[in-house]
Amino acid sequence: MSTKNSESLFARSKAVSPGGVHSPVRAFKSVGGTPVFFERSEGAHLWSVEGKQYIDFCQAFGPMLLGHRDPEVAAAVHKIVDQAWSLGACEPFSLELAEFLTSRVKCLETVRFVSSGTEAVMSALRVARGATGRNKILKFDGCYHGHVDSMLVKAGSGLAGEVAADSAGVSNAQETLVAPLDDEAAVEAIFKARGAEIAGVILEPLPANYGLIIQRKEFILKVMELAKQAGALVIFDEVISGFRVHPEGMAGILGVKPDLVTYGKIVGGGFPLGAFGGRRDLMDFVAPQGPVYQAGTLSANPVSVTAGITTLKKVERENVIEKTNQKTEDFARAVNAKFSEAGFPWQVISFGSLFWIHPKTDRPIRRLSDIPAVHREGFPKFFHAALELGVYLAPSAFEVGFISYAHTDEILKLAVDRLGQAAQKALA
Ligand SMILES: Cc1ncc(COP(=O)(O)O)c(C=O)c1O
Repeated sequence: MSTKNSESLFARSKAVSPGGVHSPVRAFKSVGGTPVFFERSEGAHLWSVEGKQYIDFCQAFGPMLLGHRDPEVAAAVHKIVDQAWSLGACEPFSLELAEFLTSRVKCLETVRFVSSGTEAVMSALRVARGATGRNKILKFDGCYHGHVDSMLVKAGSGLAGEVAADSAGVSNAQETLVAPLDDEAAVEAIFKARGAEIAGVILEPLPANYGLIIQRKEFILKVMELAKQAGALVIFDEVISGFRVHPEGMAGILGVKPDLVTYGKIVGGGFPLGAFGGRRDLMDFVAPQGPVYQAGTLSANPVSVTAGITTLKKVERENVIEKTNQKTEDFARAVNAKFSEAGFPWQVISFGSLFWIHPKTDRPIRRLSDIPAVHREGFPKFFHAALELGVYLAPSAFEVGFISYAHTDEILKLAVDRLGQAAQKALA
């Protein structure tokens, strides 16, 4: 047990867990090499078991808007741990978070807490089916909605047709229709052919799971209009964008009210928590109020909801979203200048406090087919150059980067320099 290095820990992990991990991207499969094992986090930093410090832009894939182990959140968590863990009964802690959320987010009339984004999506889809009495769900090519069976369907597999599952073990892929992003005509064709069967259309209003594929507002409005005409519900999956890009997520930025919305990540302040909610009349279908069953032993556990409410109150009080968005814009501009200086033909795009590094394109990437083919093969070299220089990016060409409130100007300046050096190394 004395071998404290990532290589030996990964070897041991592979013997006891599939692929050595508990969530696939962590295995470094698409970037190659051995995953770094981390044992400490604070603010914008991670420390590996070897004792090396990294500037972290993965930020646990999104929950840590305040950075790792924010002192205020840590204090609240320590306090609640001394008071109540899971109660499996009514308690005031989740009530406070539910009141906070429903008073801040206009489309959220009522809310139910679950333990992950996946659960939130699974439950919202069930509500959509239960409320409409229809079966099909329309999703978009390249949008990820957690590992809900019916959402694991092949991207880009045709328009109105039923598609094959992306994962083995999925039996209900035929319930899902897939449309390409950024293509009003394709969505219109699907609604024309199958509209009466569609219970709901689910989308990441800011697609951020296949790179950052920022959509035109008109496209999203058109999708919402087509759904409404067909009597289908609109579900915004704001698991990543919620409470990050704007206090009301993309719904707030777009100024729209989806029928249902799903959250995860930031809502639990880094602890397991998800939420789904929306129109009261739809949420009234949920048990025990209505016939759509949904439950959870650990749902709304006091530790997660305390971390969530403490995080969101600080975010509101210190105007964290606006400040972090601005820092991200400045960071992207500075990295792009370094890339140009180095003659590295890649770019950083950003939205809110999210960014994505990809080969330069002369127009914005709006569809999966716009992503340059060299991206997949080119990214690992840049990733490993950055890693060696102490910058931890998410270990996949198609994961976005996250900037937190704890990324100070000084840390970001250092990161910009290191990413410039990584660009030079990747070119060499
Ligand atoms: C948009 C979106 N929806 C749903 C999920 C699933 O959330 P979780 O991993 O908490 O189950 C994710 C996870 O990354 C996500 O990005």
